[in-house]
Amino acid sequence: MDAPRIDFPALEGAPALARWLGLAPRFDVMATLEKGPICYTRLLGKRIYFVNDAEFVKRILLDNVANYPKSVTYRNNLRPFLGDGLLISEGDFWKRQRRLAQPAFHLRRLKVLAEAMAGASTRMAADWEHGRVIDVMSSMNAVTMDIVARTLFGADVSGDIGKVYDAMTVLGEETGRIRPTAFFELPEFITRPRRRSFASAVATLDGIVNRIVADRRASGETRDDLLSMLLEARDEETDQCMTDRQLRDELVTLFLAGHETTAIALTWTFHLLAQTPRVEALLQAEVDEVLGERAAPTFDDLERLPYARMVAEEAMRLYPPAYVFSRRAAGEDQLGPYRMPAGAHIVISPYALHRRPDYWPEPDGFWPERFAPGARTDRPRMAYLPFGGGQRICIGNSFAMMEHAIVLAAVVRRWRLEAIPGREVKTEPRITLRPRGGLPMRLLRRDAPNVHDR
Ligand code: HEM
Repeated sequence: MDAPRIDFPALEGAPALARWLGLAPRFDVMATLEKGPICYTRLLGKRIYFVNDAEFVKRILLDNVANYPKSVTYRNNLRPFLGDGLLISEGDFWKRQRRLAQPAFHLRRLKVLAEAMAGASTRMAADWEHGRVIDVMSSMNAVTMDIVARTLFGADVSGDIGKVYDAMTVLGEETGRIRPTAFFELPEFITRPRRRSFASAVATLDGIVNRIVADRRASGETRDDLLSMLLEARDEETDQCMTDRQLRDELVTLFLAGHETTAIALTWTFHLLAQTPRVEALLQAEVDEVLGERAAPTFDDLERLPYARMVAEEAMRLYPPAYVFSRRAAGEDQLGPYRMPAGAHIVISPYALHRRPDYWPEPDGFWPERFAPGARTDRPRMAYLPFGGGQRICIGNSFAMMEHAIVLAAVVRRWRLEAIPGREVKTEPRITLRPRGGLPMRLLRRDAPNVHDR
């Protein structure tokens, strides 16, 4: 059976001709939910499917994964700045690169990294001033960038934080907008963004990554970190090490994928906490009890902070930083009763799946107890996908969960972040789901006079 069709309204502000030709649709993943478990739209004759059913998603990401490589939008939108890093590569090459990087994310390594995460969070929280309004998005970006550079590459990027944030904003602007060309196999000279600002953002990232590599090579040191692992990795058959280009692609991918998403998850968490005093009070109580007078948790503290973890999981349910990702159907397939034609473009939206009312009762409520250990659930496994699923699941998921808990606890121990009255907070769906225009909030020291814990 054929899936139902959905037609999106035209994007406001798009050129009139593009609107008239139907080339500027305003995709709305929530509207696709109303069409049932699956629907499709057409763009220049190409079928774009929206799959909002956990069982169908399981077939795509797991059971019949060989039929569903990454979609062409990865190549068109992300490859111009990520190159052939882990997020984009495929087949045996991807498998080998993933095997090389994986040990850096094993539990034994993560244990060691907790201290650096705590250090970075404590430094940030110590620098804050009572009463000041900060942009939470850029503060979280700074701390997660600091963490990823120190923990994975043993590098200090504190002087580059503003530059990288601006570069990421440009890359998001240039490549995160849905253009009709994103869905077609076209030569790279057509799809590649041409603006000077794009080239200069890529050059900024290359400059930082090249400097990190050059410093490590010049030091002659071998450390127990991801950078050394990648620098020393040899191909089993040829005994060749990675080319400088490949090394650059992996490092830029890990650097960007490793900080922007976690920063977004933390940012939305602070927004939700400020809206939900009951949850904020429970979290404060847990953190105060576990930390006592200490400024940040250790690795061993984490298992005594279950509520902090539940808060993170629930915040990423409501605002999954990677709110959509996509695949291509290489051959024809069957998803339940529906036919999936060969060549179709498939959009999987954690955002939509996470708000399906039959999986998540009262889906818009911020309710961390859904994730309580032992909470009874008959929800299918792929109804919750903040880190994707199957073999391409995020390599940094445990790293990110640990980092989220440490930064959150270090902030909550000393600070409350208060919403700015009257300011509406909206999402900005690009490559990731940032809050539109950042997220200004007021810092209140919890031990300052006249600041009452809620
Ligand atoms: C809250 C934080 C994070 C979120 C929400 C997130 C989300 C995701 C998602 C959804 C995917 C799968 C994309 C797909 O299937 O097409 C992915 C892949 C990936 N992520 Fe993350 N991520 C996070 C943190 C991190 C961190 C901390 C790192 C590294 C330090 C990282 C590195 C990667 C890489 C390299 C891939 C590609 C993996 C592969 O295909 O083998 N991510 N991430």
